[in-house]
Amino acid sequence: MSCPQCKGIDAFLDAREAQWDLARYRKKGPDKTTRMLLDAVKAEGVEGRSLLDIGGGVGAIQHELIAAGLASAVSVDASRAHIEVARQEAERRGHTGRIQARFGDFVDLAPEVEAADIVTLDRVICCYHDAESLVGLSSARAKSVYAVVYPRDNWLSRLLFRPMNTLFWIMRMTGRVYVHPTSVVEALVEGNGLRRTYHRKSGSWQVAVFTRA
Ligand SMILES: C[S@@+](CC[C@H](N)C(=O)[O-])C[C@H]1O[C@@H](n2cnc3c(N)ncnc32)[C@H](O)[C@@H]1O
Repeated sequence: MSCPQCKGIDAFLDAREAQWDLARYRKKGPDKTTRMLLDAVKAEGVEGRSLLDIGGGVGAIQHELIAAGLASAVSVDASRAHIEVARQEAERRGHTGRIQARFGDFVDLAPEVEAADIVTLDRVICCYHDAESLVGLSSARAKSVYAVVYPRDNWLSRLLFRPMNTLFWIMRMTGRVYVHPTSVVEALVEGNGLRRTYHRKSGSWQVAVFTRA
């Protein structure tokens, strides 16, 4: 990975962090906004469909949608440790043969990543400096549904994210978190021929689902 942002992510999201995330997921299931995204995607129909899950972490979306009838999933993640825990969870659930995982920055790998029926980015847009590339390239690969959870574009989100960036700076981490303007994200997705059909807010997050006509 050439991008300093992704190198920072891989260093920060280490094995200890990934095991902690996996233990929390096993105990409590998907987080609230992930459940909202899952319900909205399931409402569009998942039976027999393919998924591209970018930055899936422990793989909550992959595991839950396969349990709901999804045929296959490709996951691209910039954290090696999270790919490993997602693999452990897939093995435990008997999903191994249906998930293909790739390590790296999706923006670098995009030319080699095939389009899928459903594309998801759950709390990933906020981890990347270049929304234009990440959102533009990922939404172009959604054949039917594009579903994202990302920060609301308001002063409160910016206020909450600022101390995290200060902490990363103190820790000399290269990664940062970003509140990209909603108008920019939506214009990129709509520019790829998708239309917003679901939108909910929860705390400092927004959940949006776009579908192709
Ligand atoms: C905050 S975590 C969210 C994990 C999970 N989706 C969730 O909501 O619990 C962000 C994830 O996105 C991944 N990520 C960030 N930027 C990425 C990129 N450009 N390409 C691939 N993965 C990326 C990170 O490695 C990490 O696993």
